[in-house]
Amino acid sequence: MTLLELRNVTKRFGDFIAVDSVSIEIKAGEFFTLLGPSGCGKTTLLRMIAGFDAPDGGQILLDGEDIVDLPPEKRPFHTVFQSYALFPHMTVADNIGFPLKMSSKTLGEIKTRVAETLEEVELSQFADRYPHELSGGQKQRVAFARGLINQPRLLLLDEPLGALDEKLRENMQRELINLQAEAGVTFIYVTHAQNEALALSHRIAVMNQGRIEQIDEPSKIYNFPVNRFVADFVGKINMLEALVIEVSLLHLKLKVEGLGEVAVPAKDRIKVNDRGVFAVRPERVRIVPQTVATNTGFQLSGKIKDFLYTGDVTTYIIELSNSTQIEALLPNSVPGHTKPFEVGDAVAVSWEEQSAQFFPD
Ligand SMILES: Nc1ncnc2c1ncn2[C@@H]1O[C@H](COP(=O)(O)OP(=O)(O)OP(=O)(O)O)[C@@H](O)[C@H]1O
Ligand SMILES: [Mg+2]
Repeated sequence: MTLLELRNVTKRFGDFIAVDSVSIEIKAGEFFTLLGPSGCGKTTLLRMIAGFDAPDGGQILLDGEDIVDLPPEKRPFHTVFQSYALFPHMTVADNIGFPLKMSSKTLGEIKTRVAETLEEVELSQFADRYPHELSGGQKQRVAFARGLINQPRLLLLDEPLGALDEKLRENMQRELINLQAEAGVTFIYVTHAQNEALALSHRIAVMNQGRIEQIDEPSKIYNFPVNRFVADFVGKINMLEALVIEVSLLHLKLKVEGLGEVAVPAKDRIKVNDRGVFAVRPERVRIVPQTVATNTGFQLSGKIKDFLYTGDVTTYIIELSNSTQIEALLPNSVPGHTKPFEVGDAVAVSWEEQSAQFFPD
């Protein structure tokens, strides 16, 4: 069931179009993420949904009714910002209960709901502390609790984990997933961190320069990006300029800069002489020592030029004889082995045809 629908929503600042005819349908109970680089219009879009800014064009519908003229406080939404926005002179319990006080609930009701909510976010023992006596993660949890206490139809979150360090972010990501599932509240989550979007969301809208590039489930966004921008922005990917030289039912034959002729799976609406990029993700690239390379099938020879060891995985940079570079990612799953290859090792590089893609310009 659609909760919120955006129809061709547009926002201009002078001549500049910050949000360009965006259309999205968000289902009740969904964890929906707006993902895109800095300045692409995520916050601007969120502010229009919240009602802080009015769109210059388009419609925002809640349960099918246009709410563009409804002021923010009349919308059954709550917004959580990166900066927590807690009241410094109020205790944790008073901060969380504040929205209820505003909606003139009785003291007894407030007390019960605050106690329940504190439990939900595992902050019961911090009820009487002040914000300055809390860690960043705890403060953010108070902000979530305050956002959820009025049981809004929609919780809008703008980079809420932006200020936290990586380890804490990961913990909070798991908590957010659980919190959202338990509270059953629809989330619209804004982030420019692609790994966070992939980890949290039911669906992601990838934005670029005010427009939506793709709306899909995380695995579709990662494995089947619709264009070069999405492929490049979400996850790492090897990309090389390419020209289409042959089109058949199942394959495209490409002339790829630095690789020569390479086959990739067929794609709609591609013609001979189209230009674009050949792309393959590093984890899909296989490397084997040159000595064990077979002569059958597609492979390229090169040398290990450099590597980046990050504990769980190692990313190798392989330089082919014509100095083209390819990245390959290998899991470090063998105990005791830090890395199977050294700089200078002669290797053979290959990938499955289905792992590669062509994106037209
Ligand atoms: N009040 C304003 N007046 C003029 N330009 C604005 C205003 N607010 C935003 N912009 C511009 O609109 C564009 C989109 O801004 P927005 O804040 O929505 O980006 P964002 O995607 O949230 O970026 P970030 O990830 O850095 O927060 C930017 O180029 C920004 O400079
Ligand atoms: Mg922003």
